[in-house]
Amino acid sequence: MNKKLIVANWKMLPESLAEAESILEFTDSQLSTLGNQDKLSLVICPPFIYLEDVARIFKTSNLENRASIGAQDIAIEEKTALTGEISGSMLSKIGVQYVIIGHSERRWKLGESDETVNQKLKSALRSGLIPIVCIGERVRDENFSTFLRNQTSNTFKDLTPDEIGKCILAYEPVWAISTNPGAKPDTPQSALESISIIKTSISPQLVLYGGSINPKNAQDFLCMEDIDGVLVGGASVKKEEFADILKIAAKI
Ligand code: PGA
Repeated sequence: MNKKLIVANWKMLPESLAEAESILEFTDSQLSTLGNQDKLSLVICPPFIYLEDVARIFKTSNLENRASIGAQDIAIEEKTALTGEISGSMLSKIGVQYVIIGHSERRWKLGESDETVNQKLKSALRSGLIPIVCIGERVRDENFSTFLRNQTSNTFKDLTPDEIGKCILAYEPVWAISTNPGAKPDTPQSALESISIIKTSISPQLVLYGGSINPKNAQDFLCMEDIDGVLVGGASVKKEEFADILKIAAKI
């Protein structure tokens, strides 16, 4: 079985740096009990405000060798006036290697269009960051496969196969994200069907599933040969739950 990638999307949590430190310390200590590190890769994506502190904590712990840092967003361009935005080069200078692009909360709650997501994706690639690109339907209705095909082609518009091959795809059905009303995880089989629809037009380097991943269901997704890992939201800031997910991934 291939090495599994676990991406922690902390979203707008935790509320203090002290809590962030405590999650990282615990994660570090748990990782050291897992033995063979070849089974699992880890990317932690904190809010912008903690990135530099997280980079410092990585350097002064074993996390530096065991995990990477990701951002949750990126500016569409480098050298321009964009109030409130953070550029790709600013991120890479502080040690960020990955960036989440097109998360459904940004698409649906903040009105980020496919065109903007496409610009951000190109911006990440120009900065040498590895994009974790979120694709997913809002509802599973009779049009969902057309929706997935359109969102994929708009999001990856004008990218060469080589550039797409540098991207990580995260299939995240919006209705399965834990904070959405009535959310329940997709099943691994139906997630794989959606992933195969998306993969008719693109060949990313890795494919993740995201949406209500927790210690009870992580095994079901991670044991699938065609799912290279999981993108974990809510459970990634609950340190014991997150450690349990890491343990499961390390045993696959
Ligand atoms: P969740 O979030 O694990 O809380 O469902 C996943 C995500 O939004 O990336």
